[in-house]
Amino acid sequence: MSRAKRKMDHINYALSTGQCRATWLDCVRFVHQALPGIGVADVSLEPKTGDLKLKSPVFINAMTGGGGSETLQLNAMLARAAKETGIAMAVGSQMAALKDKQERESYQIVRKENPNGTIFGNLGSEATVEQALEAVEMIEADALQIHLNVVQELTMPEGDRQFRGALDRIARIAEALHVPVIVKETGFGISQETAVALDNTQVAAIDASGFGGTNFASIENERRKRKLAYFEDWGIPTAAAIVECRNGFSRTVLASGGLQDAGDVVRALRLGADAAGIAGSFLKHAVSLGEAGLIDEINGLHEDVRMLMTALGACTIEDIRSAPAVINGELLSHLKQRGFE
Ligand code: FNR
Repeated sequence: MSRAKRKMDHINYALSTGQCRATWLDCVRFVHQALPGIGVADVSLEPKTGDLKLKSPVFINAMTGGGGSETLQLNAMLARAAKETGIAMAVGSQMAALKDKQERESYQIVRKENPNGTIFGNLGSEATVEQALEAVEMIEADALQIHLNVVQELTMPEGDRQFRGALDRIARIAEALHVPVIVKETGFGISQETAVALDNTQVAAIDASGFGGTNFASIENERRKRKLAYFEDWGIPTAAAIVECRNGFSRTVLASGGLQDAGDVVRALRLGADAAGIAGSFLKHAVSLGEAGLIDEINGLHEDVRMLMTALGACTIEDIRSAPAVINGELLSHLKQRGFE
């Protein structure tokens, strides 16, 4: 199967399998404060994410590139929406463009459309230092995401079967690059153990990217005859993955995996994330509502986060972390058994 066809399959199956809403974020219930003591104008949406240069607590997470004109159009639209709303954007894996120069345009369009915006490059953990340097240069990236996707690869009929040496390669890339490195999952979550291993490198940030949104085991199963059904319910739900990361990593923690609205974003920030990435939900809006509709959605999301922060009495993103909340159900059970109370 051609790479272009696989990229389009991923987009189409991501849209059709949708978001499974199993993030456990609903287990977080804020305790209403009738005297919040602040007003809407007091709220700042700018997170503290160090070198990542984020102006908003939400960003467009890695999706696509390298699949021909359709992915080029989609990336151009996402880039214009990111520029218009002042949010950061990650491109999809650039490995295709490292292997075939003709594929570069669909990534470089993102920088062309948004010359001064914050843009993250993206590669898998099989990448070498040279490839990482080239990926950053290709789009003048402000940071490089390195994705971990073992379960996706195992479910993918033509996927990788060997995962040795990834941590060493990541450590070497983080040392060599002049821009921050973000290590992310792709919807199965990062555990405390993995976060600790990454904390011992110079990686600047980790993105928990938990279970409960786009499900790459379901997507890859759509593409194979004999299904690996056991992987469809595999992974750390996003709410738990954020806490796992916060307890293992001392620098910036990003949240993603199934975030759809401001309620999800604010709960993720409450659990310890510094900012939040959205992929599948923005893809759905881009395809169903078009560019203007996506821009309205992002502006609406900012407005809603501001409203929720006002109700919580939180002037800054950091203040959200101390907002009183009760944790219920499966999330509570997970946190107790993992010793995170
Ligand atoms: C992705 N994702 C992804 N991640 C990555 O690091 N490199 C990539 O190339 C891709 N490709 C990709 C394609 C499509 C169509 C989707 C929907 C997603 C994963 C993405 O960044 C994110 O980690 C997961 O999708 C979970 O977040 P959502 O989609 O539930 O918000």
